[in-house]
Amino acid sequence: MNYPAKLDDIRVDFPNAPAHVPKDRIVDINWAMGQTPNDLVDPYEPFGWLSGADIPRLLFNPPPPGGLGAIAGGNAKGNWVVTHYEDIDRVYCDNDHFSNKGTAEFQRVIGETFRSIPLAVDPPEHSKYRMFLVPFLSPARITRDIEPRIRQVVIEMIEEIADKGEVDIAWDFGRIFPVRIFMGLMGFPPPMLEQFLSWEWDILHTGDLAKMQAALRGVLTFLRGFIAEKEANPDEHLVSSIVHGKIEGRPLTEEEKIGIVWFLWLGGLDTVAATISQMFRRMAMQPEIQQQLRDHPELINGGVDEFLRTQPILSTGRRATRDFEWHGVQIKEGDGFSCLNPAGNFDPARFENPREFDPSRKGNRHFTLIGGVHICLGAHLARRELRVLLEEFFKRIPTFRVKPGADTTVFPGLLSIRNLPLVWDVK
Ligand code: HEM
Repeated sequence: MNYPAKLDDIRVDFPNAPAHVPKDRIVDINWAMGQTPNDLVDPYEPFGWLSGADIPRLLFNPPPPGGLGAIAGGNAKGNWVVTHYEDIDRVYCDNDHFSNKGTAEFQRVIGETFRSIPLAVDPPEHSKYRMFLVPFLSPARITRDIEPRIRQVVIEMIEEIADKGEVDIAWDFGRIFPVRIFMGLMGFPPPMLEQFLSWEWDILHTGDLAKMQAALRGVLTFLRGFIAEKEANPDEHLVSSIVHGKIEGRPLTEEEKIGIVWFLWLGGLDTVAATISQMFRRMAMQPEIQQQLRDHPELINGGVDEFLRTQPILSTGRRATRDFEWHGVQIKEGDGFSCLNPAGNFDPARFENPREFDPSRKGNRHFTLIGGVHICLGAHLARRELRVLLEEFFKRIPTFRVKPGADTTVFPGLLSIRNLPLVWDVK
């Protein structure tokens, strides 16, 4: 794919644009939303120019073709696109002007009315859910209760492959490892793993309404049954703690229970998987990163955040809560905003040498786990999984490379990479 490289390449006519949108801001950015694959070592490189100093601070993107833009608070009528670090930061942090209502509420397509909690809840209401959930995924809790299990699973999985000299790191490893951890944490039955991944794929990646609806019915029926089972038979896992928990001194309503368990299910399944696959792809294609992290394990922590910064798998959205003016442009209440993290994470006004992978980077406040009150609740868990994986992998498989002839095409986003065979020398 030849990606556009300047603003004039992406200007389009959009006769249905709202009247308050200046014509010179209308461009097609759908190619930068993670649906267009490439084979570059740095697959996010084609979007970096969108945070350049010469690019207008607000662009406007027509809806994607295919008519599914309306789903889950998406881009039905066209969205403002924010590409500069400072502006993305404002959208995530300024809850007076930007709302998260309706975000990722795929359940609406089958007529469900419960909210995705905490993601689609705005402050100040958001904080009661956040305060309820944070202790379950705090760094101290992870160190005490979850890291030993992460290490055990990762060692077991690496030792299974180490002597074989080959693995499909995306399909057989990245796809499975974080989901095993997540399912154990939640208390979900291990045999549901493939079914969960299949439902999630149909909901997020097929763009096929009938498949989405069938998968949503399947998963919500399962989750409601599972919640009922945990109500009757409590255990020490997270779903049980949630359904037996209290918010502001009262038990949770049925809507709150399904809203929380559903959104954890959606957020926890394939995000770390996509990150792992892209992390190994990058290391296999750029072996000096392997060497750097292997020779200096003290850099692994910083390396994890640098992988996250350079692999912003998600771009997220908000809606304007009121009319206001921004960068000389009139914004109307209800206007949609997409924050293009693959541009913001490489903004040269914020990051020195933004395209360089630098595990010693200081103040690496990137947007891959966003910022503001909705900052990813699973961030500590995700970072810990990635850190332990790197520590244990290098001990057993010090160097690896892409299997000769393998396809290294990747979707620079959550779709990521389905298969990536890696090989190494077995002593
Ligand atoms: C590398 C892996 C991950 C990435 C890149 C990621 C990314 C994100 C992003 C971008 C958001 C904000 C979305 C928005 O504001 O519109 C978010 C929120 C959230 N994530 Fe993650 N996530 C990851 C892993 C996880 C895991 C493992 C879990 C569950 C254990 C999780 C649970 C959540 C929850 C519950 C929220 C909503 C937080 C709130 O609204 O207060 N995430 N994540």
